[in-house]
Amino acid sequence: MKVLFVVWELVPFFQVGGLGDVAKALPKKLHQQGVDVRVILPFYKALKLHRQQKKLIKEFTVVYDGKKQKVTIFQIHFLDAKIPVYILKNEKWLNIPSKDIFSFYNLCVYEILKNNYLEWVPDVVHCQDHHTGLIPLLIKDGNLKFKTLLTIHNLNHQGKYSLDIVKKMGLKHSKCRVIQWETKKKQINFLLEGIIHADLVNAVSPSYAKEIFTEEYGCGLDEIIRNEGQKISGILNGIDYDSRDPVHDKNINFNYGVDSAIKGKRLNKKFLQEKLGFTVSDDIPLIGFIGRFESKQKGLDIMHKMIRRVNLQKFQFVILGQGEVEWEDQFLWLASFYKKNVSYISVFDKKLASQIYAGADFLLVPSRFEPCGLIQMIAMRYGTLPIARATGGLKDSIIDGVDGFLFKKYSSFDLETKMKQAVEIWKNDKKKINEMIVTAMKKDFSWDKSAREYIKLYEKLCNQSQIS
Ligand code: GLC
Repeated sequence: MKVLFVVWELVPFFQVGGLGDVAKALPKKLHQQGVDVRVILPFYKALKLHRQQKKLIKEFTVVYDGKKQKVTIFQIHFLDAKIPVYILKNEKWLNIPSKDIFSFYNLCVYEILKNNYLEWVPDVVHCQDHHTGLIPLLIKDGNLKFKTLLTIHNLNHQGKYSLDIVKKMGLKHSKCRVIQWETKKKQINFLLEGIIHADLVNAVSPSYAKEIFTEEYGCGLDEIIRNEGQKISGILNGIDYDSRDPVHDKNINFNYGVDSAIKGKRLNKKFLQEKLGFTVSDDIPLIGFIGRFESKQKGLDIMHKMIRRVNLQKFQFVILGQGEVEWEDQFLWLASFYKKNVSYISVFDKKLASQIYAGADFLLVPSRFEPCGLIQMIAMRYGTLPIARATGGLKDSIIDGVDGFLFKKYSSFDLETKMKQAVEIWKNDKKKINEMIVTAMKKDFSWDKSAREYIKLYEKLCNQSQIS
């Protein structure tokens, strides 16, 4: 089985969000399970090669905006597996920020497949999110025989661009199936085209795959999703067990495993309290948040309200996240008033993230929607119990009262009530909390099972092609 994994971010070369982690961990597992998987992404200026020598594979030209553009394919590989990574260089279009970046990138991938520039023919082209959403359409339009799978990591980001992009790509408007709708706004929607034209589509958790059929979670695409319903399924992400491991994590001061978790976490908590300038005490619960500051998704409003309302003498909050400046300011303001109990760090700091996973007692994940979410799984592997909203992948990865805590309604009051219940148990029933910590740490979030499910989808696609 040969799979080209098409994506726009890949850890550790270039990362923006959770997709970058998935792009590293899933191909690694697929490779271990015998799939010949190769990853492709743009070679941005900001991409870090980590001292790897890049190998020149091919130079070719594509016509974009009526002009010939030179593109170079280089090859590097994963740092910890023999997986080829192709990076595409073009000074003018393949850089961020540019509104043409993804249309140009999609066209390049199409040209590569059409002309076999990699001298390697995949069975399946596995596209990730809207950044790669036009590839299934281009493949169909060009009558290429590749099968396509589109994975939706986040329906809220759809990649809407002005229609002139379609012209620049040399595509006819009529090729885009629902362009009528979008033409009113003179826009093309990459994710929508991907959902319509891909042979199969999956979302990153079974619950999210169901939620997106509804108006509430469908982000305006629910009608289309219901129409294409028979080809949509859900596969829960995993986490990379090699790098997310409290036994070996070099970013934490006291490594620990399941057997030494209680002591290890106590030492890491003390370290974190000192580092943040908080009172050092075992008796005050230390509660973390790690995530992109994206108010539509991440529940920043209910978290802010809840923190403002509770008696802060009784809690310590550490919040790590960057994004919307308005929300960064709101949390900075809060932290400036309550220095001993609220700490806000706006610079993404991998080391501190690990220290929070290891040292906090609980992790808040109050998302309005969450396609999968990786932080709750990482937290659980580090024995930090998540307090999360029962939605999407959070619902699929946490069992309330067993290995974490779930609240249903999107409200600061429900979040507060659940958090206080969790803290009550933490204060008065150490035996139960310790059991929960062990259960969470032992839970299997490795990619083995999910990678097998992806292979099933690839096989389904290949069997389809034999029939047709
Ligand atoms: C997006 C989603 C997140 C998911 C990640 C990886 O960032 O918001 O829920 O875990 O993609 O699939």
